[in-house]
Amino acid sequence: KKVLFSGMQATGSLTLGNYLGALKNWVSLNEEYECFYGVMDLHSITVRQNPAEFRQKARALYILYVAAGLDPEKNCIYYQSHVSGHAELSWILSCFTYMGELNRMTQFKDKSAKHADNVNAGLFTYPVLMAADILLYQADVVPVGVDQKQHLEITRDIAERFNSVYGNVFTIPEPYIGKKGAKVMSLQEPAKKMSKSDENPNASVFLMDDPDTIIRKFKRAVTDSDSEVRYSEEKQGISNLMEIYSSATGKSYNEIEKEFDGRGYGDFKVAVGEAVVSILKPLQDRVAELTKDKVYIDSMIKMNGEKAQYFSNKTLRKVQKKVGFTEKI
Ligand code: TYM
Repeated sequence: KKVLFSGMQATGSLTLGNYLGALKNWVSLNEEYECFYGVMDLHSITVRQNPAEFRQKARALYILYVAAGLDPEKNCIYYQSHVSGHAELSWILSCFTYMGELNRMTQFKDKSAKHADNVNAGLFTYPVLMAADILLYQADVVPVGVDQKQHLEITRDIAERFNSVYGNVFTIPEPYIGKKGAKVMSLQEPAKKMSKSDENPNASVFLMDDPDTIIRKFKRAVTDSDSEVRYSEEKQGISNLMEIYSSATGKSYNEIEKEFDGRGYGDFKVAVGEAVVSILKPLQDRVAELTKDKVYIDSMIKMNGEKAQYFSNKTLRKVQKKVGFTEKI
C-alpha cells in the first residue's frame, strides 16, 4: 500500500477551512493508503503557547481526527513530540536546505510580520521540520489545503537534493489538494483565507461552534450588492459560499445556481449554514462521546506513538548511515 502523511498544528480552534481543505480529504483517501496523521505539536511552539491550554488543544485535535472517522486502530494517529525522529531528521535536512529557500516562504513572511516580537529560528526552519515529518514515513501523498503547497514544493526539493547525493533514500511526495474547499475564505473579508487566528469572530466558522452561531455567521457573511447566486471572480463572497456549499453537499455550481435562481442571498446563506451544520453537528456529538472515553484515547495515543517511532526509525537509521554517522555498538 502507498503511504499517506498529514497533520495539523495543535493551536487555536480549528475552522471549517481545516475541515474542508484537509480533514475531509484525509477521510476520503483513508482506505486507499497506509496512513499517518500527526498532531503537530513541535510546529505549534514556534508561537508562544500556554502549556496547560496547549496540552488540552493537542488532545482535542487528537480526538477530532478520530471523531472525523479515522480509526486509530487502523491508522497511525500520534503526537509528533512522541517520536524523536522528527527533530533528528529535521536537523540533518536543515544542512541540505538553503537560507535563501527558506527566505522565500510566504508563510514565514506572513507569520514574522504578525509576530514581529518573536521571529524565532524555529519559525524560519519550520518548513524543514515539515519536510522531515513527511519524508520520515516515505509518504507518497500529502493531503493539504492550498496554503501548504509551497511547503510541499520545498519538501520535494530537499528530498531530491538529498537523493541526488546519496541515492534513492526518500520517496518524493505529491501534494493532494481537493477540487473544492482547498482554500476557504473569510466570511468577512472574502479576499483573505479563513484562519483560526482571525481577530474578527464572525470571519471564521469554528468546528465546535453551535448550530445557531454557525447559521448567524453565514447570515452575516459579506457578499455584494447584487442578488444573483452565481459563481464568478468578481463575486468573491458569494463564490466562497458556493464553494463551501458545493463541498458540503456535493452539488455542482450549475446545480446551485439553478436551485437558488431568483431566490436572493438570504435564502442561500441560510441553506449554506444548514448544510454546514448537518456536517458539523454529528462531528461535535462524536467528539463529546470520545472525550469521555479517556482510557481508550490514552491507549491509542500510546500504541500509535510507539508504532510511529518504529516506522520512522527505519528511515532515520538509513539516513544516518548514508550521511556517514557511526553506528552505535
Ligand atoms: P495548519 O494547522 O495551519 O492547517 C491544517 C490543514 O488545514 C488546511 N487549511 C485550509 N484549507 C482550506 N481553507 C482554509 N482556509 C484552510 N486553513 C487551513 C491547511 O492547508 C492544512 O492542510 N504546516 C501545517 C501542519 C503540518 C503538516 C506537516 C501538514 C506540519 N507538518 C506535514 C502536512 C504534512 C500547518 O500549519 O497546517
